[in-house]
Amino acid sequence: MRVLVTGGAGYVGSHTLLPLLRARHHVLVFDNFSNGSPEALRRVKQLSNADFDVCAGDIRDAQKLEQAFGEFRPDAVIHLAGLKSVGESDRRPLEYYSQNVVGSIELLKAMQRHHCRKIVFSSSATVYGEARYLPCDEEHPTLPLKPYGRTKYFIEQIIRDWSSAEAGSSAVLLRYFNPAGADASGRIGEDPIGVPANLVPYIAQVATGRLASLRIFGGDYETRDGTGERDFVHVEDLARAHVAAIDHVARSPGCEAINVGAGSGATVLEMVKAFEKASGMPIPFTIAARREGDVSRSLAAARKAESMLGWKAERDIADICETAWRWQSGNPDGYGNRK
Ligand code: UFG
Repeated sequence: MRVLVTGGAGYVGSHTLLPLLRARHHVLVFDNFSNGSPEALRRVKQLSNADFDVCAGDIRDAQKLEQAFGEFRPDAVIHLAGLKSVGESDRRPLEYYSQNVVGSIELLKAMQRHHCRKIVFSSSATVYGEARYLPCDEEHPTLPLKPYGRTKYFIEQIIRDWSSAEAGSSAVLLRYFNPAGADASGRIGEDPIGVPANLVPYIAQVATGRLASLRIFGGDYETRDGTGERDFVHVEDLARAHVAAIDHVARSPGCEAINVGAGSGATVLEMVKAFEKASGMPIPFTIAARREGDVSRSLAAARKAESMLGWKAERDIADICETAWRWQSGNPDGYGNRK
């Protein structure tokens, strides 16, 4: 198929390109490079030994989208572009609604104009909010706690409404749990701008000595060891889920929300220990106050992904830590020149 990938130069995007290209899909990356890197795309081309087109543009730019859709004529879209910092979304909600929600509407409008009716959307488990029961299945009530999560929730609703109005359309809303790790090659990985907000890239930078010590947000949660528990899903597994979802939208109409998680959890402390083991480096930490807006536990029921997409996580937190370390130690400055 001809697949347009918004946000294809980002962390999840660059990893998704690899199995997509290996499955011989034709790809156009559409990215504004606000948090993605041209160097990541260069490395994806090397690793896959495949070529693809790149269009530098913002999804709110209707003209740029028009040009991309007109020239590339996609059969399907993988929509990953969006702002993703939960804390920042609290401080700059309008930017988040504009980039994520308005951008998604422009994208759907371009799809409609060009009779492209298949979309895989990068949603998030954050749409569930604080869990009423665990593991969270797709029927769990949705009550996101922060503007970032609300943008994901609103886009899900918009895609649902578009899909009911658009005959022959097909959508998969992938609700990611906690993506982490890097491609096994260690050549591409997560390269946050500034100080990382997420756990694994933060730990990785402590391990290389770039950051002095980890602050663990909260030691008094009702978990095995008092620290928050998350369902970490290896980014290579997550990447495969997108390809499985593309196969699904190609053959089945409708709109489905599907969890993408490993179905098992690790606490923050367990992650620290796993990273120390994988890297051989000490990870100094202190226990600090809880971070506002954090849930105590997040855990996926991943059965729907298995039955509907034939997808299941294959890698564990040891693989996550090993590959994150390979990437961080081999590329201590990430892709370079971005800070
Ligand atoms: N944590 C720390 N110290 C840090 C960073 C994180 O203790 O420096 C803790 C957090 O408090 C939390 C856990 O590590 O308990 C995971 O935190 P992350 O920031 O890595 O991930 P979140 O679970 O907060 O959020 C992630 C993504 C969101 C997504 C959500 C879905 O960042 O985009 O998972 O569950 F919505």
